[in-house]
This record gives sequence, C-alpha cells and structure tokens, in this order.
Amino acid sequence: PRPIWLTRHGQSAYNQHGRIGGDPELSPAGEEYAKHLAEFVRKNAKRDQEVAVWTSTLRRTIQTATKITRSPRTWRALDEIDAGVCDGMTYDQVRIEMPDVWAARSADKFRYRYPRGESYEDVIQRLDPLIIQLERQRSPTLVIAHQAVLRSIYAYLMDRPPGECPSISVPLHTVIQLTPTAYGCEEKRFALPP
Ligand code: F6P
Repeated sequence: PRPIWLTRHGQSAYNQHGRIGGDPELSPAGEEYAKHLAEFVRKNAKRDQEVAVWTSTLRRTIQTATKITRSPRTWRALDEIDAGVCDGMTYDQVRIEMPDVWAARSADKFRYRYPRGESYEDVIQRLDPLIIQLERQRSPTLVIAHQAVLRSIYAYLMDRPPGECPSISVPLHTVIQLTPTAYGCEEKRFALPP
C-alpha cells in the first residue's frame, strides 16, 4: 500500500514570530528540516517507487521540497487559509487591534471567514479536486503544505467531522503517514529534527 505523507513546511521566519500567513522564507531551522525530510523520503520510499511531491505555491513549501525535487507539483489549492485583513499580523495584534475579529473567530473558528479572506469551510471546498486526485494516486505522495490546509485534508482522510478541523494537531517538523486500508487510513507520526 502506498503511503500519503503530510507535512507542514519547515519553520519559517513568520513561525518564529507567531505571524499569520504571508509568503516568508524558511528559517535556518526550517532549512535543516528540509534536509531531514529528504532523508526520511529516501529511507521510506521503496526502491522502485517514484514519489510524487506536492507543494503549495508559497515559497516556504517549495523551499522545503528542494532537497527532494526542484520541480514539485504546485497547487494553489494547497496555499494556507487566506487570513485577509489579518495577513501578516501576530495573534496578539489581532486580539488587541481587532477584538471583534478575535471574538468572532474564537466563537466559531470553523465557519468564521476572515474579512476579505477565508474560513475553514472555504478551505475544505477548494481542496475537493485535490483530494480526489490524492485518493487516485498510485505512487507514494508527499504533501508539503500548511497548518489549516493539512488539518482539512487530515480530517477528510481520517473521516473526522469537519467541525473538528480547527483543533486537529498538526505540528511543525512532523511527518504524518497515512496508509489507506480497506477501512480508512492507518496513521503513524514521525517527529523529525531539528
Ligand atoms: O501560524 C501558522 C499558520 O499556518 C498561519 O499562517 C495560519 O493563519 C494559521 O497557521 C492557521 O491556524 P489557525 O486556524 O489555528 O489560526
């Protein structure tokens, strides 16, 4: 059976400061993760199997793939949830400068749509065509994406209620391996350095 590997990009300059969205580059620790991820794929792919590498169109996911391939398949559908007017802010800034946004999102994180941005519900919708392709893949597929997007893909593949998406744990520098079986997917998690 072919595994699906889900991972967030390596740590970015924004992750270091708790900033939302943007198109930052990897931090030195993020670059390190990219190397360990490449090693993980080399070790875990069967010798004769080609591994499909999918990224978003954002720099941090493409940079995370470079040690594996210079030409990943890039999907706009994999781009992080669009935080609209909050893009580039820290969570603290949102809480203090936009208390209404903060309160409304806290009250219903799944359905809340950022002004001029997206909700988790929106993200799930735009992922539809990608998920159909993902389920049809014959080769192992490494999906390098972002927190909200991966929560949504994970919830779908693991048959979790969509409303749970916003609270699913998808940490940095971790590969979530999902292997399709007759009854859903078998899950293993690998925390990689650094
Ligand atoms: O903080 C990293 C990040 O990917 C942000 O870019 C994004 O807005 C956020 O996670 C999504 O997580 P949450 O829905 O918990 O804010």
